[in-house]
Amino acid sequence: MSEAATWDGFAGRYERIVRLFDRSYPRIRELLRRDLAGRRRALEVAAGTGQFTFTLAEVAEDLLATDVSPAMVAQLQAHLTERGLKHVRAEVMSAYELPLADGSRDAILCANALHVMEQPRRALSEFRRVLAPGGLLAAPTFCHGVDLGRRLLSRFLSVVSPFVAHTRFSPTSLSELLAAAGFSPGPITLLPGLFPIAYLIAERT
Ligand SMILES: C[S@@+](CC[C@H](N)C(=O)[O-])C[C@H]1O[C@@H](n2cnc3c(N)ncnc32)[C@H](O)[C@@H]1O
Repeated sequence: MSEAATWDGFAGRYERIVRLFDRSYPRIRELLRRDLAGRRRALEVAAGTGQFTFTLAEVAEDLLATDVSPAMVAQLQAHLTERGLKHVRAEVMSAYELPLADGSRDAILCANALHVMEQPRRALSEFRRVLAPGGLLAAPTFCHGVDLGRRLLSRFLSVVSPFVAHTRFSPTSLSELLAAAGFSPGPITLLPGLFPIAYLIAERT
């Protein structure tokens, strides 16, 4: 099944399910407000139904919020319409092929998605192309590989649920992947949760 079809399949339940994992989402919102302030042209990839879109909308003048799943984007669009935000657009887009010009964005947010992507390196290469030099990538990511207990839980969930982690990151392996993709990762803050979230900002080199 394609990534879009997989996520379409439970878009209707996503907002309920994510509550199991979202203990640190309020802290991430605070950090994003601080770290992405002043980044005018922003892109959100794998936005889901908008868990962080409205935070990013507070700091960006122009925000394109995207996801590969049309059903996720439909819900996101409904939330945007409710709030009447004029400077935010929602579109269906794959992280692997962003139909955007080189260097056209000052910041990209990809929250809690690199671990579920089948080809995270391909996504990062697109993020680097689309970011202007000195642009920032915010990539808070669930770390399913942080310890043995989480690895086992992650394997179990991969079998019994659609939450398949294709990469079981540790904070270090996430930072190394970003460095290998042409970013300069900043310090990592590990945030608590059923799966801890590694929060980091990386500058496009
Ligand atoms: C765990 S959810 C994260 C949603 C939200 N950002 C959050 O933090 O709660 C992962 C999201 O990644 C999206 N996704 C998966 N593969 C993708 C890809 N190749 N390109 C764009 N989005 C993708 C899914 O549709 C889903 O909405």
